[in-house]
Amino acid sequence: MLGINKLPYHATLQLPSKWKTCKEIVSLDGQWLFHWSKDPDSRPADFYREDFDVSQWDKITVPGNWQLQGFGKPIYVNMQYPFHRDRPSVTGEPNKDWYAYDHRNPVGSYVTFVDVTKEMLTKNLILHFGGVHSAFYVWMNGQKVGYSQNSMSPAEFDVTKYMREGKNKLAVEVYRWSDGSYLECQDMWRLSGIFREVQLWVRPLVHIADYKVEAIPNQDFSKFTVKAKIAVCNTGKKTAKNLLAQLMIACPELNGVNTNSSHHNVTNCRIPKLRAGDTTTVELTFPYESSPRLWSAEKPWLYPYTVQLLGMKDSKDDEAFENHLGVKRVECVGEVFKINGKNVKLRGVNRHDHHPVTGRYVDNATYEQDLRLMKQANINFLRTSHYPDREYLYELCDRWGIYVMDEANQESHGYGYANKVMGEDPEWKDAHVDRAVSLVQRDKNHPSVIFWSLGNEGGVGPNLKAMREAVVALDTIALPFCDTDRSQSDIYDDGYLTPDRLRTEAQKVSDRPFMMREYAHAMGNSMGNFQEYWDVIYADSSICGAAIWDWVDQGLLKKENGIEYWAYGGDFGDKPNDGPFCINGLIAPDRKPHPHYYEVQHVYQPLTFVRESDGNIRIINRDSFTDPSEYDITCDTVTIDGECLLNVAARLKEDKPWAKKGFAVASEQFVITPYVFPETVMSTAKVPKNIVIEGNVLRSWIVDGREMLQAPLEPYFWKPENDNQHAARFAERTAVWREASDVTVNYTIIDERSIKVEIDYHPTGTNQPVMPKFGMRMRLPADYTNIEYYGRGPWENYPDRKRSAFLGRYKMPLSEFETEYIHPQDNSCRTDVRWFNIANGKNTLRVEGLQPLCIRVWDYGEEDLEPAKHPHKILRGRFVNLNIDLNVHGVGGVDTWGQRTLPQYTIDGNKPYHYAFILSWILPTF
Ligand code: GAL
Ligand code: MG
Repeated sequence: MLGINKLPYHATLQLPSKWKTCKEIVSLDGQWLFHWSKDPDSRPADFYREDFDVSQWDKITVPGNWQLQGFGKPIYVNMQYPFHRDRPSVTGEPNKDWYAYDHRNPVGSYVTFVDVTKEMLTKNLILHFGGVHSAFYVWMNGQKVGYSQNSMSPAEFDVTKYMREGKNKLAVEVYRWSDGSYLECQDMWRLSGIFREVQLWVRPLVHIADYKVEAIPNQDFSKFTVKAKIAVCNTGKKTAKNLLAQLMIACPELNGVNTNSSHHNVTNCRIPKLRAGDTTTVELTFPYESSPRLWSAEKPWLYPYTVQLLGMKDSKDDEAFENHLGVKRVECVGEVFKINGKNVKLRGVNRHDHHPVTGRYVDNATYEQDLRLMKQANINFLRTSHYPDREYLYELCDRWGIYVMDEANQESHGYGYANKVMGEDPEWKDAHVDRAVSLVQRDKNHPSVIFWSLGNEGGVGPNLKAMREAVVALDTIALPFCDTDRSQSDIYDDGYLTPDRLRTEAQKVSDRPFMMREYAHAMGNSMGNFQEYWDVIYADSSICGAAIWDWVDQGLLKKENGIEYWAYGGDFGDKPNDGPFCINGLIAPDRKPHPHYYEVQHVYQPLTFVRESDGNIRIINRDSFTDPSEYDITCDTVTIDGECLLNVAARLKEDKPWAKKGFAVASEQFVITPYVFPETVMSTAKVPKNIVIEGNVLRSWIVDGREMLQAPLEPYFWKPENDNQHAARFAERTAVWREASDVTVNYTIIDERSIKVEIDYHPTGTNQPVMPKFGMRMRLPADYTNIEYYGRGPWENYPDRKRSAFLGRYKMPLSEFETEYIHPQDNSCRTDVRWFNIANGKNTLRVEGLQPLCIRVWDYGEEDLEPAKHPHKILRGRFVNLNIDLNVHGVGGVDTWGQRTLPQYTIDGNKPYHYAFILSWILPTF
């Protein structure tokens, strides 16, 4: 059962930004009365009755998820169903230790009271639910209204006949799981409840039921035609006469600025008669004889329009909805993907609709923040993985310019990727199609949508074919896409290929464009080799782009003993769970960018700068509709310790909705005169009393009357894993390097406050695994927390992820130097370090490379980091751990289920290495 008494899916009638002032909408959001039951048997079955007393019930905020308001547990799982798999049942007996064993489908019973006036009762009253997870029944004043599943799409019911003047009891019974859950096995927190807006729409009896406005350019974009279909229905008891359906289109505007504010084109059509209970659709066409202002992510030109229904006996019953259209063409020309005739590259990201406090409900301000950060990172393509998001997001994409792959809420991953079980079973066909229809019907008027995705990691077979057919019957502007069943996709997709495999696989496909709907798994400390991907993508015109997995860490804010932290799978005692596998974002749950966010910003930049041998800077334009002259190009030369650097940037000439004038959309750094590293040093003959050297180890160094070595300086080739490495069994493979071997350290005493350190590695074996790092480690007193260095920064960078981190002189406290990953792991590296100072406010230890260094510093040890499950569990502050290396194993950036760091960013354990640095103490002279 997909629904009972649901009204047909239709377009978002009014732009979401205008909902608050829309006279037809009464918001029912707020505090509702709530009762939670652990299973259907224990639910208050007759709570919907008017005589059922709910006055003692708990309160809950709508919209919201009940698990985040103290009722039941959130469960994070990736591919499996969190209940016993036995479709269509969800109450079979699961493993005894699963949450679902004792909670065989929890039920949330909601009650609120709605005030209705006499005037409202003369109208048509429609109850609108923006999203309810996973399925629900509705009663009004004790009478059953209907049922719905398909949790990420709106459900509407005509409640006119159940309502009365005064107070009305609205009762909603929500089931955590339903047969619909078999199509909702997405890799995310599994949460429940009424999590999107609830509205009562007060409509004229004769009203606009739906509309679709599309703009179609001619072949050479010299003209275009706007076509509108407006469905009008008569919900009254009398025939309506003499109606006028009208479309008013204004002049195009960009970023809210109009070209000619006064002018409107009007086209309309009379509806002489509409019988009670009937719906009719009028078609309007408006030909434009001049070339359109085309919509693209770069230049999101919009034509605001108003859809009106006029002429009912009383003008207060006129209807008018505001929206906007964009003129664009999306097409595959052979193996080339084109927007408005240009081979556009989709610089993409996947995004879950996630908020750390409100869960599946994401407010408008957070949407704005997300899109602002996306635009600033030069992301031009968003996949709404893996279901439709709230309507406002699409309005923002239309306005600010983001291409959208809008995805149907369909994933049957619990039956396996590309399974036939769900893809072929005719009993599940309608359920699949319902999710495609609801997707397109709601979002069909958004210019930003360029693909309709049939879902994620679902089945293959006739049910996917039926979804595609439903999609193309409703819309022919955006292209159908499918990841599991390639026969139903206009784009050939593969995921998580290495850069090399991307190149070779894309070359094999010639009937369609190629894309990676998911790549560059951004779990933890990741996003290595990101430029390598784009070297391949830019070189092959058949690759239309790729979307990073994914945008935001799906951490939930949890408070334990007064400490707040980001919880992941298992932290709620949820079983089964997939641990930190939901922490894959470019940004943290509170939207703070991770260091690897900046690498994306750099690699995705629309301009590439190349310095030619004659010193000229050549600009390669990666955009299709913007000329480099539209930016202010700035060149700054800085000289740091004799090294001359040229910093080039392309800056916005004016404010955009997502960044201010002057914001750098692209930048590059060139070394004009390289740094001169120190070479020889003078040595004193004998070792002073304040220094103790034992073989390879500097054991003690007393400076200013204090032992500076909390642990000796020694060769140290180990580093803890990051998530990518862990999945590739790094620690296991490289375990021999927990002990450094085949190494000789030479200490040259310069004076009692400075030592030159030289390290030589001469492998004796030939079968050594890759080395986690080549270098040394020491521990300083805990108060050495002021850092200043000259190297790449300011943010963390690693050999395979350093293009965005320019050379500079940076100063920061240790707390900023470290990166606090939600799932603790290796962090804080700075590469190409020329010198590095660490001080306690009085004395300074200076480290000078005789070649570039990699430096990592923490206020804890490797042994504290490795077992920690959350940052607040790391034992800190006993010392400062300083790793001074020639090289560090790259972070990796393909996937987090086995792919290793690309070989060029690893350290071959079978080759000799040598490096050197000078340590010196600087004491105040007064
Ligand atoms: C993909 C899947 C995503 C997510 C990702 C791993 O294959 O589509 O939903 O699970 O793997 O983080
Ligand atoms: Mg999945």
